[in-house]
Amino acid sequence: MATVEDVRIIELPKFLDARGNLSFAEQNNHIPFDIKRTYWIYDVPGGEDRGGHAFRFNQEFVIALSGAFNVVVDDGIQKKKFVLNRSYYGLYIPQGLWRTMEDFSTNSLALEFGSVAYSKEDYIRDYDVFFKMKQDGQI
Ligand code: TYD
Repeated sequence: MATVEDVRIIELPKFLDARGNLSFAEQNNHIPFDIKRTYWIYDVPGGEDRGGHAFRFNQEFVIALSGAFNVVVDDGIQKKKFVLNRSYYGLYIPQGLWRTMEDFSTNSLALEFGSVAYSKEDYIRDYDVFFKMKQDGQI
């Protein structure tokens, strides 16, 4: 059963160069799972939040490719906020945690990798349901 203590920032390799910088991420290396899906969030209007939900199975790896935003994770007992503002930091979020993305800067770009293909059944969108499942040790 994941807790917010299992969420971690992973520093990615970076090649700093006068011509511009380069970073990369490999599955089962920097990204600690098999990547099944990639999605990205962009053009977020000021003040909007994204991603108020939990996944039953999907693990995620989130990078602020551009700009900055915060990711708040919650295990039903504790909450933790991570500030993503560098394109060489990835945030690993295991399954079974409530997570919200907020305070997007103008033109920010969130790139996310997922461990399972999209399935709407994988989502828990009701916090009370999430809280009960967490208490019952179901996720
Ligand atoms: P959602 O995950 O709810 O976005 P957020 O976490 O930012 O609140 O996704 C928004 C919509 O996009 C939702 O109707 C489902 C669709 N979607 C897909 O079809 N495939 C995907 O891989 C993702 C992540 C979302």
